[in-house]
Amino acid sequence: MGEETLSVTDNRTGRSYEMPIKDGAVRAMDFRQIKVHDDDFGLKLYDPAFTNTASCRSEITYIDGDRGILRYRGYPIEQLAAQSTYLETAYLILFGELPTRAQFVEWEHDITIHTYIHENAKKFMDGFLYDAHPMGMLVSTVAALSTFYPQSKEIFDEEDRLLHMKRLIAKMPTMAAFAYRHSSGLPYAYPDNDLSYTGNLLNMLYKFSEAKYQPDPVLERALDVLFILHADHEQNCSTNAMRCVGSSHGDPYSTIAAACAALYGPLHGGANEAVLKMLTEIASIENVPKFVDRVKDGEDLLMGFGHRVYKNFDPRASVIKELAHQVFEVTGRNPLLDIALELERIALEDEYFIERKLYPNVDFYSGIIYQSMGFPVSMFPVLFAIPRTVGWIAQWQEMLLDEEQKIARPRQIYVGHDQRDYISWDRRESRQGAVA
Ligand code: CMC
Repeated sequence: MGEETLSVTDNRTGRSYEMPIKDGAVRAMDFRQIKVHDDDFGLKLYDPAFTNTASCRSEITYIDGDRGILRYRGYPIEQLAAQSTYLETAYLILFGELPTRAQFVEWEHDITIHTYIHENAKKFMDGFLYDAHPMGMLVSTVAALSTFYPQSKEIFDEEDRLLHMKRLIAKMPTMAAFAYRHSSGLPYAYPDNDLSYTGNLLNMLYKFSEAKYQPDPVLERALDVLFILHADHEQNCSTNAMRCVGSSHGDPYSTIAAACAALYGPLHGGANEAVLKMLTEIASIENVPKFVDRVKDGEDLLMGFGHRVYKNFDPRASVIKELAHQVFEVTGRNPLLDIALELERIALEDEYFIERKLYPNVDFYSGIIYQSMGFPVSMFPVLFAIPRTVGWIAQWQEMLLDEEQKIARPRQIYVGHDQRDYISWDRRESRQGAVA
């Protein structure tokens, strides 16, 4: 191999530049030396939606989209899904190594003792309308927690930071479950700290008058596996929001509210909700070809298909498809599954989807599982936000401790008017193209 450098010739000036290549990347700032004249700003890189820009160096999650690989801290997602638990994976993501037995006992204890939320936070949730979307409630309530823990602003105090990270992992299921109970008109069910992380979530969601809720072990494990699959996904939209907002050094609760808000959109964490809506609208297998035609004509998107990074298959989708069968043995088969399987079959054989490398992503089957487990569709993005919390905080901490990072502030290419003079009111009426 030749030298690890890039040679660039600026044809405007005829000058040549040599830039180092490290880890398959050049530094955008190296392009600033490329100028036409001395007071020129220097060459910028234009990359809307960051499709080819690395914004950080990270040790947390590795994805090879072409080969369908996803690893947390080097461990393949398939192995973690088969052998780990969500809390163990959360420890791995946050601290970089799998815990010893003693470390895990302490970690589980530390998370469990923080599951309750302040009674006033519960009252805050009471204020929402009866039909408030649970994700809107979660976004607002997690932000409100910053007012309960003002010391969380001390983000460079290692001990404080860890305490609030544990609180966030512990309290997200509680806020999520309270949001669900509120929107269902049910009394809140408090955490049961004898249960596992996902067992307790099921308890807070579904407990009625029984003295002690016993989660179904298959559903408890299925939820745990879904949580492992959703725990981190490197620099996706919400993680980028977490890093970007966190770069102004706000407290973790306000910052995670921003990440949750980013996750809420239908192109990100809202996609499994959109998949369910799509499958319900298609309604029967006979309507599938007509729907696929609409997608190919650009009138609809095939929700749950396509990914910015995976261009072969999404390894999370493969695990989930398998999981679906285990869940259906307990809950009964979801009739939407047949529509989904037919959609997948037709799409995977169709040139439109093959050409564009569109494959089922994590959301294609997760919604069907969640629905079979009794979750309303509005809870789907909430069920994504709970496990993604550890990914967000691990990435946030990595950003805070990275000496190269600063407040995030992209450049722009200004394409608006050049300087012009203010127009008085009476002269404006006749201006052409004025907005009505
Ligand atoms: N259905 C139909 N056509 C699609 C789809 C789709 N789901 N996704 C992409 N395309 C087409 C797109 O129209 C474009 O076609 P053309 O080249 O003719 O203009 C081509 O494929 C490339 O798409 P793109 O928009 O450049 O791809 P992207 O990387 O910007 O978008 C995406 C990725 C996930 C936003 C997009 O595939 C999409 O909107 N999918 C549906 C929503 C969804 O399932 N989101 C969940 C993502 S996985 C969970 C997560 O990580 O949040």
